[in-house]
Amino acid sequence: MLNCQRSLFQLDESVTFLNCAYLSPQLKSVAAAGIHALERKNKPNRLAPEHFFSQVKGVKAEFARLINTPEPGRIALIPAASYGIATVAKNLPLRSGQDIIVAKDQFPSNYYSWARLAQEKGANLRMVEVPAGPDKGRRWNEAILAAIGPQTALVAISHVHWAEGVLFDLLAFREKTDQFGAWLVVDGTQSVGALPFDVAKIRPDALVCAAYKWLMGPYATALAYYGPVLDNGVPIEENWINRKNSENFQGLVNYQSDYQPLAGRYCVGEHSNFVLMPMLETALQQLNAWEPQRIQDYLRQLNAPYIQELLELGFRVLPEAQRAHHLVGLGLPAGVEMEPVQAALAAANVIVSVRGQSIRIAPNVYNDARDWEQLMGVLRQVKHTQSVH
Ligand SMILES: Cc1ncc(COP(=O)(O)O)c(C=O)c1O
Repeated sequence: MLNCQRSLFQLDESVTFLNCAYLSPQLKSVAAAGIHALERKNKPNRLAPEHFFSQVKGVKAEFARLINTPEPGRIALIPAASYGIATVAKNLPLRSGQDIIVAKDQFPSNYYSWARLAQEKGANLRMVEVPAGPDKGRRWNEAILAAIGPQTALVAISHVHWAEGVLFDLLAFREKTDQFGAWLVVDGTQSVGALPFDVAKIRPDALVCAAYKWLMGPYATALAYYGPVLDNGVPIEENWINRKNSENFQGLVNYQSDYQPLAGRYCVGEHSNFVLMPMLETALQQLNAWEPQRIQDYLRQLNAPYIQELLELGFRVLPEAQRAHHLVGLGLPAGVEMEPVQAALAAANVIVSVRGQSIRIAPNVYNDARDWEQLMGVLRQVKHTQSVH
């Protein structure tokens, strides 16, 4: 069982930070790796051609381990989740009249590419929604499964809904998409790192993850896994380092028609990024040492008594089987308005996000019972005052 890992971070002790779904705090080790890497550029002669490849190899290996694939060559380094999604959109064989399925209100980086593609190809973008109410997680999964059929070309979804915390049943989606030869694309930005993701089991055609939240990496780094359907696809840009033999700097103008193997063709130009890659590798090493399942176990135990109390106070939380423990959507009790709750949270320096009609509580391994107590102090108070009026 993990203990609280707060000492590994430089948290601002004057705020209660329960918002990793927005931006993770920085590990001290990641900051140190960045500073060291920044200073390296003072002596550019120390950066040899092999450094364009070696760090990237380390990052791919760590991420491959985290998502359980034996093939680090299937990992691409990209600058944003939207970039990884655009790569899939460029390669999806989509015919007029076919369906692309997304969940209602999913993050825009996993929406706009599909909206454009559907429009260009005369396909249908189906946004699956279910009304609010009990068991929303179960009903939503059922509705998405029911939407998948012979006309489906692709399901583009996340593992955990970024606003409400609904856990999507990726295994069931995979089974059904397999029946119809449809692709399954997962945005893991709000889950991978904190929640186990098993490529060997789920077999997504693509998985994309921005790294600045649960992967604890620097902003402007992201990672993708691309499965066999994308092995011979076309990248959204053509850069020199993705081509075969790019390791040979003397031969770069012996232009090559072949790419680096597997997902090597999909990495962004200048992905060797000498400052950000060491930071990302350090963060991934730490996550692999912690293990996502142990992070979930830590958070489950930490959250449990407070969630129980919130339910007793009339707040709404999804049943445990329909959510994860690192991103919990909290609906307000009847008669309690969001605006005063937000004001009270801000006044107490409790940092959470409001997404739609829910408060999003996103704890991680640096949080402990003191943080929950700060949050609960506010929620108990607003419930009490607003119920009295
Ligand atoms: C589910 C999800 N995907 C992706 C992102 C970030 O996307 P991008 O890397 O394209 O900026 C976010 C940011 O909040 C998110 O919540």
